[in-house]
Amino acid sequence: MEFVLYEQKGQYAVITISREKALNALNSQVLDELNAVLDQVDLAEVRCLILTGAGPKSFVAGADIGEMSTLTKAEGEAFGKKGNDVFRKLETFPIPVIAAVNGFALGGGCEIAMSCDIRICSENALFGQPEVGLGITPGFGGTQRLARLVGPGMAKQLIYTARNIKADEAYRIGLVNAVYPAEELMGAAEKMAAGIAKNAPIAVRNCKKAINEGLDAATMDEAIVIEEKLFGDCFETEDQRYGMEFFLDKNKEKVKEPFKNK
Ligand code: CAA
Repeated sequence: MEFVLYEQKGQYAVITISREKALNALNSQVLDELNAVLDQVDLAEVRCLILTGAGPKSFVAGADIGEMSTLTKAEGEAFGKKGNDVFRKLETFPIPVIAAVNGFALGGGCEIAMSCDIRICSENALFGQPEVGLGITPGFGGTQRLARLVGPGMAKQLIYTARNIKADEAYRIGLVNAVYPAEELMGAAEKMAAGIAKNAPIAVRNCKKAINEGLDAATMDEAIVIEEKLFGDCFETEDQRYGMEFFLDKNKEKVKEPFKNK
């Protein structure tokens, strides 16, 4: 792949969008490669993903403005669908995805970060949906996910004004979970990924599914049924049996074994 790098590090893996000359902007090829790299993740081994951008300056500076500049109405809609399909794949990917936002996260960059489960960023990160300044709406899910993450009032303000916000403000409004000095960001993301990876993998996957599908349900009654089923599923796993037996065994000398993903 030309623009997307994949590195497995034991039980977690790092996906890096690497089109540094264009500040990692998302053209069709980058979207295709992202789609393909997700298909290649070895889900028997890998339990958490980290998504980041190459270089010290930018996570992703948006969808490719050059490519979009000549699109027709139908092509614009198709380009939106292409991005949305990949971002939805990321959002519903079976294992958690941490966005390590290392600089510009504008337009499609903010949108791809919002498709991840967890966002952490560097002090030089800059978030925003600048689309109305270009004559378009956010097109890769920004109108929907920003409103869900920070509330409709704040999302509308950010989108209508096209104002970019720095890391501290993104933290204050709940768009990111934590801010780190740039040189500490990847270490923090990897520590978090390793911490997630050591927990019972099927339980973690079921938590992701329960939260995502529950939030999309029409009522709390439906949402809670989704949780009940996924909770019940865990009782068919070896990891549940082992995790609870370990807790109940009062032998303090015993060392907890890694979960088996079974
Ligand atoms: N698309 C295409 N190319 C981009 C790009 C983008 N979104 N963002 C940056 N680049 C390119 C620049 O054109 C430039 O290329 P050249 O060297 O060939 O001229 C290179 O990356 C470096 O960029 P700058 O020289 O502009 O760097 P800077 O440090 O002066 O500015 C910046 C950085 C503030 C991020 C600025 O590049 C910028 O404003 N980029 C556009 C941000 C934006 O509007 N993103 C939203 C796009 S719309 C969208 O994403 C729609 C959607 O929802 C699907």
